[in-house]
Amino acid sequence: KQRVFSGVQPTGVLHLGNYLGAIRQWVRNQEEYENFFCVVDLHAITAPHVPKELTKATYRTAALYLASGLDPARSTIFVQSHVSAHAELTWLLNCATPMNWLERMIQFKEKKAKQARGGALRVAGGPFVSPVGVLPPQEEKSDGESCGVGLFDYPVLMASDILLYQAQLVPVGEDQRQHLELTRDIARRFNDQYCQNKQRKTFVEPKALIQTSNARVMSLQDGKAKMSKSAENDMSRINLLDTPDEIARKIKRCKTDSVKGVMYDEARPEANNLLGIYEAMTGMSRDEVAREAEGWAGWGTFKPLLTEATIAHLEPLQQRYKEIITEQDYLTKILNDGAEAAEKVASRTLIDAKRAMGFTLPG
Ligand code: TYM
Repeated sequence: KQRVFSGVQPTGVLHLGNYLGAIRQWVRNQEEYENFFCVVDLHAITAPHVPKELTKATYRTAALYLASGLDPARSTIFVQSHVSAHAELTWLLNCATPMNWLERMIQFKEKKAKQARGGALRVAGGPFVSPVGVLPPQEEKSDGESCGVGLFDYPVLMASDILLYQAQLVPVGEDQRQHLELTRDIARRFNDQYCQNKQRKTFVEPKALIQTSNARVMSLQDGKAKMSKSAENDMSRINLLDTPDEIARKIKRCKTDSVKGVMYDEARPEANNLLGIYEAMTGMSRDEVAREAEGWAGWGTFKPLLTEATIAHLEPLQQRYKEIITEQDYLTKILNDGAEAAEKVASRTLIDAKRAMGFTLPG
C-alpha cells in the first residue's frame, strides 16, 4: 500500500473548505492507503494564540477527524507535538534549506501581512478578538517584529511531517501546492547532498493529491477569496459545527450576483463555488447539478436547497462529534495509540537522516 500523510491545524473550528478540500478525500481513500493523519499543533502556534484555546482546539480537531469518518483501525491519528521527531527533523532540514526558498512562499507573505495588520488592531483597540480567542493587548510592533521566526519556518516543519513518514501521497487543498513542491525540493536536495549510496535515499519525494472539484472552496462573502479559518468575518465560512440556524443565515446572506438563473459559468465565481458545495453536499455529479439548475428560477430557488442539503449532510457528523468529544478517555486513548505508532516510523527516518548527516548516535 502507498503511504499517505496529511494534517490540519487546530485553530478555531474546521470549515467546509478543510472538509471538502482535505478531510473528505482522506476518508474516501482510507481503505486504499496506509494512512497517517496528524493534528498539527506545532504549526498552530506560528500565529498568536491563547494556550487554553489551543488545548481545546486540538481535541476538537481530533474529534472532528473521527466524526468525519476516519477510523483508528485504518488510520494512525495523532497529535504532532506528541512525536518529538517532527521538531527535531525540522532543525536538521532548516540547515539544509536555502533561505530564499522560504522567502518565495506565497502563504508566508500573506500571513505575515495579516499578522502585521493584527498587531496594529491590538494597539488601537485594547484586547484583540481573533478567531482563536481574545489576545491580550500588545505593544505596537515594527514590521520585523510582527511575525515570528516560526511563521517563516512553517513550510520546513511541514516538510518534516511528510518526510518522516516516507509518505508518497499528500491529500490537501489547492492552497498547499507550493508547500508540497518545496517539500519535494527539500527531499531531493537532502538526498543529493547526503546520501552517498544513491540506491538508499533517506527521503521519498511525495506528491500532492489535489481533487478536481472543491480543491479551493471560496468565501461566502467573496467568490474570489479562499474560505479561511482566520478570516475575521465568521459569515464568510460554514464551520462544521455551525447550528442549522447559523448555516441557514450564512447561506441566506452570502454574496451572489445579479445574473439571471444559477449555473456554472467561468465568469461567475459565487455561482461556481456554491454549486460546487451543492455537489458535495448532495453527492450529485457536476452534470446532474447542471441539469437540475436549469429548472431553478434563480438564487431564491437555489439557496434553500443548498441550505437543506448542507444541514442534512452535516447533521450525522455533528451528532458523532457530540458523542466523541464527551468521551475524553476514548479520544485520549486513540491519540496515545496513534502517537506510539507514529513514533515508531518517525524515529526510524530521523535516525537515518542523522546518520546521513554524520551525527554520532548514542549507544
Ligand atoms: P490548514 O489547517 O490551513 O488546512 C487544512 C487543509 O484544508 C485545506 N483547505 C482548503 N481546501 C479547500 N478550500 C479551502 N478554502 C481550504 N482551506 C484549507 C488545506 O489545503 C489543507 O489541506 N499547512 C497545512 C497543514 C499541514 C500539513 C502538513 C498538510 C501541516 N503539515 C503535512 C499536509 C501534510 C494547512 O494548510 O493546514
